[in-house]
Order: sequence, then C-alpha cells, then structure tokens
Amino acid sequence: MRHKAGLIVAVVIVLITIAGAYAVMHVNISALPEPGPFETSIATKAKDWYISRAARGPLPPAPTNASSSVSAGETLFGMGCATCHGQDGHKPTPIGNAMYPRVLDLGSPEVQEMSDRELFWVIKNGIR
Ligand code: HEC
Repeated sequence: MRHKAGLIVAVVIVLITIAGAYAVMHVNISALPEPGPFETSIATKAKDWYISRAARGPLPPAPTNASSSVSAGETLFGMGCATCHGQDGHKPTPIGNAMYPRVLDLGSPEVQEMSDRELFWVIKNGIR
C-alpha cells in the first residue's frame, strides 16, 4: 500500500515536471501577439478585484475652486494622458491602441461604472 502511494507521487511529480518543461519551452513572452480571451479575462478580473480592494481610502476634499481645478485637470490630461487616451479621452491614439489591454474610451461603461474612489485610486497610482 505504501509502495503504491509512493509510485503515484513519483508519477505525479514526473508529469508535473514534463508539463512544466513543455510550458517553459512553448511560452511566448513577446509583446506582439494579442493575449487570448482567457488571459484577458483573468487579468481583468484580478485587476478589478485589486482596485476595489485598494481603493478603500478616503477621497480628498472637493476642490474649492471648481473651474480652475477643471482647467488645471485639462492641462494635466493633455500632458500626461492624451498620449494614449486621445485629447478628448474617447478616441485612443495609435499608441494606446497598440497596448494590451487596449486603452479604454474613458466614457465607456467599463470606466463609467467605476466608483469615484476607484477612479481616484487609478489616476493617482496608475496600474502596473
Ligand atoms: C501609456 C499609455 C497611457 C497613459 C499615458 C495613460 N493611460 Fe490610462 N489607461 C491605459 C491603458 C492601456 C488602460 C487600460 C487598462 C485596462 O483595461 O486594464 C488605461 C485605463 C485607464 C482608466 C480605466 C481604469 C481601468 O481599470 O481600466 C482610467 C480611468 C485611466 N486610464 C485614466 C488615465 C489618466 C487620468 C491618465 C493621465 C494621468 C492616463 N490614464 C494615462 C494607458 C494609458
């Protein structure tokens, strides 16, 4: 009985080693091919979970001068965000469209359904 259990463990270890070697030899770390739906779905779910967990802190107080804050935000958006998201945030640039995951239209349901806390966290911290 003990001998049989040892044999099963040895077979499992050999199979895992073969599967690992196969995976290492066939993995493609090139950034050129678009990730498949499975990888994209897992990565998106993990990202959404992480953001919802990380974005629990308090929001800063609303700016006292809304119009100058909007104007400063527009300038910052043009300098730091439009490169990928497009000047209006709705039409991703060729740079943004070359990334995986693709740059989102900031008016899309995926972005608009995010809470203020989540958006604040993403904009403050970025996503690796
Ligand atoms: C180098 C390109 C690039 C720049 C610059 C950039 N972004 Fe993004 N942004 C992306 C990509 C790619 C995504 C899609 C990420 C995803 O779907 O997981 C994204 C997603 C987002 C999202 C949605 C968050 C989410 O979880 O999908 C928001 C909001 C956002 N960006 C805001 C900004 C703001 C504000 C700036 C400027 C301060 C900015 N981005 C600058 C590439 C960029």
